[in-house]
Amino acid sequence: MADLNITRLFNVKDMVFVITGGGSGLGEIMASALDANGASKVFILGRREASLKKVAENAVNKTIIPVVCDVTSKDSLSAAATFIEKESPFVNAVIANSGAVGPVTSLPPRPADATIADIQQQLWDTSYDESQTALSVNVLGSFYTFLAFLKLLEAGNNHDDSRGKKDFIQSQFITTTSMGGLTREENPGYPYMASKAGLWHLTKSLATKFAKLGIRANSIAPGLYITEMTEFASGGQDWSVPGSLPKDFIPMTRTGSKEDIAGAILFLCSRAGAYVNGNVILSEGGVVSVQPASY
Ligand SMILES: NC(=O)c1ccc[n+]([C@@H]2O[C@H](COP(=O)([O-])OP(=O)(O)OC[C@H]3O[C@@H](n4cnc5c(N)ncnc54)[C@H](OP(=O)(O)O)[C@@H]3O)[C@@H](O)[C@H]2O)c1
Repeated sequence: MADLNITRLFNVKDMVFVITGGGSGLGEIMASALDANGASKVFILGRREASLKKVAENAVNKTIIPVVCDVTSKDSLSAAATFIEKESPFVNAVIANSGAVGPVTSLPPRPADATIADIQQQLWDTSYDESQTALSVNVLGSFYTFLAFLKLLEAGNNHDDSRGKKDFIQSQFITTTSMGGLTREENPGYPYMASKAGLWHLTKSLATKFAKLGIRANSIAPGLYITEMTEFASGGQDWSVPGSLPKDFIPMTRTGSKEDIAGAILFLCSRAGAYVNGNVILSEGGVVSVQPASY
């Protein structure tokens, strides 16, 4: 019988990863989890060098490498890929996690008696540019991130030194979508929700195109985790303890924790998740089960 020990199943020993948006929030947790569980190199990309360096300094195994990159620029992505190729001849997974929230229109809640004119005014007053940033970073930024690293992902399957080749862990593109791409309630705002639904479809389309070429595409769709992006919602309160929130809002009565997101990324990246393709892991405490949504 194969060795089913949890350490062998879930470790990411000797694997190489690229994570966009790795300088904060969920990307930082993912990078730290991969570093802590055996990765040989974890390249974290983002625009703010100071945040990237801080994450690298805090890494327990010191495998995290900062790379300044703006995912909305092909030149910047191309320069990052060139740099990374000099550091590693292959990559096992690219995680397109960078995101922008765009205009938040769900807070404070609109009065129940709001007229169509009221709603039109509130939504019209949002910034087109801010909406466009959400679509650009979340959808196109992820698409061009995938393209920039495709050759290195292919090498993740073929290079003799790659754990992917040795252990039949096919290379993988992972996106961070959102439950907002599924739920119909206005939360946090329509452009963001549309961008994440688009990214969801992009991920599955890429899984179809590249399945027979040996590159997988999967996604993690988080619900509410408190990060720089969402701290406006919690006002600084810790909602990660069960009982913090009403069941109508989040059935599990809490926000997502470090363990929740770390567990999801380790499953997808390790031998444990090696047979998974075209899949989306929802990590949202049951919200999609109780709100109007599709899944
Ligand atoms: N927190 C939640 O509740 C939640 C729920 C569902 C989905 N998500 C998704 O999770 C992902 C991570 O978000 P988070 O919650 O961890 O928030 P966060 O801490 O604000 O992370 C967003 C990251 O995206 C990076 N980024 C933004 N624009 C970029 C650009 N043009 N080029 C490169 N990097 C860029 C930021 O780095 P720089 O500013 O340094 O570039 C930052 O590290 C996002 O895709 C978000 O939509 C979050």
